[in-house]
Amino acid sequence: MQQVRLKKDLERAIRAGHPWIYRDALSATGAATGTVVDVVNRHGQFVARGLYDAKSPIAVRVATRVESEAVDDQFIAARLSSALGLRKRLLEDGKTNAFRWCSGEGDFLPGIVVDVYAGVAVLRIDGEAARAWRDQVVRQLVEQGRSLGITTVYERSRGEKGEVLAGEAPPASIEIVEHGVVFLVDVVHGQKTGFFLDQRENRRALQSHCKNAAVCNLFGYTGGFSVYAALAGAKKVVTVDSARPALEDAKSNFALNRLDSEKHQIVCADAFEWLSQTTDKFDVVIVDPPSFAPSHGALPKALHAYRDLNALALSVVAPGGLLAAASCSSHVTMASFQSMLGLACQKAKRSARVIEVRGQPSDHPTVPGFVEGRYLKWVLLAVD
Ligand SMILES: C[S@@+](CC[C@H](N)C(=O)[O-])C[C@H]1O[C@@H](n2cnc3c(N)ncnc32)[C@H](O)[C@@H]1O
Repeated sequence: MQQVRLKKDLERAIRAGHPWIYRDALSATGAATGTVVDVVNRHGQFVARGLYDAKSPIAVRVATRVESEAVDDQFIAARLSSALGLRKRLLEDGKTNAFRWCSGEGDFLPGIVVDVYAGVAVLRIDGEAARAWRDQVVRQLVEQGRSLGITTVYERSRGEKGEVLAGEAPPASIEIVEHGVVFLVDVVHGQKTGFFLDQRENRRALQSHCKNAAVCNLFGYTGGFSVYAALAGAKKVVTVDSARPALEDAKSNFALNRLDSEKHQIVCADAFEWLSQTTDKFDVVIVDPPSFAPSHGALPKALHAYRDLNALALSVVAPGGLLAAASCSSHVTMASFQSMLGLACQKAKRSARVIEVRGQPSDHPTVPGFVEGRYLKWVLLAVD
């Protein structure tokens, strides 16, 4: 087994769960990308075992901290099986067939993300090193996925063309069910792997506030929050997004759930511009933008953008209404997100109370020593 030596004092953080070791924390090594290496401390003692990447700033992604645990085909099979076990409860009522089977570092299988949409498993490989595991992961998805009716494995990694890895090419639209609510998902052209599974429980939680409400779903994509709101009895729902194809699916999703299309307005626009122009007021406003902070360096600018956006959104909340604000940036902590919301209230000259704080669902687990893994923030404000 090749070894890489820690030159920085990171042993405690790694042992406590942090799965990433940056290149500047290690002595030079000639290991190749995709090799399994042992990370040792300055005394040569074992700290962790993981996948090495010769180019990425993250040089090692930790797979295990147990010296006797081999990182081999059996390891991959066991990790995927354990990840599936964690999702059993979510699937047991038979009303959900779209979920994240494996959440990379959060399921102790670094770099491997698998989303399931009915019979299609979509694989996203984060970082080049985990590509070494691709064939074995695909074999396991087919084998273990048989009981779930999975017949296709499709890869959609960032910045790459999609590729069928097993079975037939996925259909243009996959009909999925989430808590009994039906959605169309386009895993080939849709955003991310096709659907924002991480908002599943927040969509459902918001329903309790939507009866007879006028709801505005900003950055609404294919209408996830909109459909849930309408099913909960909203009197009117407006979905705003800049992606026309997503909005077309939002329209179809209303029809699929036998909802009255008269009560649903779709607006293809830049959300900032639309908010600056509209004179309408809403009882519930959802703000779920794409990440504004792609890196730590971009954080100050991103927090200003979140503040300005949420201030604009607050201006369309009717007195006594609600603002549901989200951020999917891993660089924004919950504390800084809530501080930003305070500044947004100040800017909009509205006072508000936090009534719910939520995050990502149980099929997007993280390890305790890795706070960056809890990327999704969700705060519900009652606005005076
Ligand atoms: C995080 S996703 C929203 C997911 C959605 N809430 C759901 O539950 O499915 C962000 C969305 O913002 C849209 N978007 C990005 N920039 C935008 C802009 N300037 N104005 C309006 N929509 C935008 C994208 O097309 C995408 O659908």
